[in-house]
Amino acid sequence: MDRKEFIKKFAYGGSILLTAPVILSACSSDDDDFVPNDPNEPDTDLTIDLSSSTYSDLGTIGGFVYEGNIMIFRTGESTYLAISKICTHQGCTVAYNHTSGDVLCPCHSSRFTTAGAVVSGPATASLKTYSVQKNGDILTIS
Ligand code: FES
Repeated sequence: MDRKEFIKKFAYGGSILLTAPVILSACSSDDDDFVPNDPNEPDTDLTIDLSSSTYSDLGTIGGFVYEGNIMIFRTGESTYLAISKICTHQGCTVAYNHTSGDVLCPCHSSRFTTAGAVVSGPATASLKTYSVQKNGDILTIS
């Protein structure tokens, strides 16, 4: 092996050695550390003004809106549900599916009811649910 060839092989091998820890850490089991419904999560009150055009989809029963990491559904004349958009499997963002009427996770296809219960996994824990209080045109979600 001549000097040029040695340097080429050394540089190639060195770059693999230097990038391996980065690649391996990206595939580590840290992805499995997601803690669903963490009781230490800080409580946050969210206020929704139903008279605002931003939330006009809540004007009809069956309507829903996204606000931050929360989905809010109008379930009756003055009843609402609020659930987290964070999948309890590994933390992907779920979305409401109009066709099925379920909440679906795009990452590994977990399905939830609009009340947050698991329909099918791999998720095994329900989506976090929030309490919703209505006072006039104001919803308080906590
Ligand atoms: S993160 Fe939602 S199913 Fe895996």
